[in-house]
Amino acid sequence: MPISLAVLEQIIREAGDIAMRHFKNLDNVEVIKKSPRDLVTEADVAVEAFLKQALAKAYPQYGFWGEESGQSDDQFNRWVVDPIDGTHSFAKGQYFWSISIALEIAGELVAGSVYAPALDDLYIAAKGKGATKNGKAISVSSEKSLDASMIATGFACLRSYLVENNLKRFCRIAEKTTGQRRFGSAAMDLCLVADGQVDAFWEQELNLYDVAAGALIAKEAGGTVTDFKGNEGVFPKQILVTNGGIFDQILLLM
Ligand code: IPD
Ligand code: CA
Ligand code: CA
Repeated sequence: MPISLAVLEQIIREAGDIAMRHFKNLDNVEVIKKSPRDLVTEADVAVEAFLKQALAKAYPQYGFWGEESGQSDDQFNRWVVDPIDGTHSFAKGQYFWSISIALEIAGELVAGSVYAPALDDLYIAAKGKGATKNGKAISVSSEKSLDASMIATGFACLRSYLVENNLKRFCRIAEKTTGQRRFGSAAMDLCLVADGQVDAFWEQELNLYDVAAGALIAKEAGGTVTDFKGNEGVFPKQILVTNGGIFDQILLLM
């Protein structure tokens, strides 16, 4: 194991403390518009700055790619970090946002953690070692009927004004399922599949830092991780993660 999960957990919790200090003081948190529909706050920047230095101190041998500060020199063995996933939710004072940290070595995701500080839920996994939530082993749901399933998705594509924007796909799938959710943090959506709280999640036009940790956690919890055609792997532009039981059925609607 190239890192200690206990060290990773300690670092993500410290990052959560920084995020929560801003979250409890939102009236004084600067919000910047990266684009008309895309925000970043001073909390995103502060959390990422902490993570970059803390991860470098603990594991100087790895590079860093963070959503807000970009890529360091070494991108072969790197931390892939979203300091606050669900910034819009964070900025509105909602509780559904998270910190996402994954370690990718030679193109393979080997460890990852997603922490939701406002909910105090911490998900963590290492390749081949299973996934846990708050220290307890988790697994995907046993639901086998698409008609009875609950699914989650997101609409980042709308922010990019894309013509191919998930709305038609959402309507196709919503008609065939019992429950639909749009929680606002892709990293957390993936952990909810891992924890059996939803039976599948899909989204398009994401980035690796949105999904790397959550996809590993979902896979280690027994989930399928594919693109919209069913090709195995983490494809941020077209990610589909399921409990396995509804995989074949939902794939037909993608
Ligand atoms: C966003 C969240 C959201 C997803 C957006 C992402 P951000 O991350 O993951 O659920 O739908 O596409 O951009 O921008 O808040 O880090
Ligand atoms: Ca994100
Ligand atoms: Ca973010």
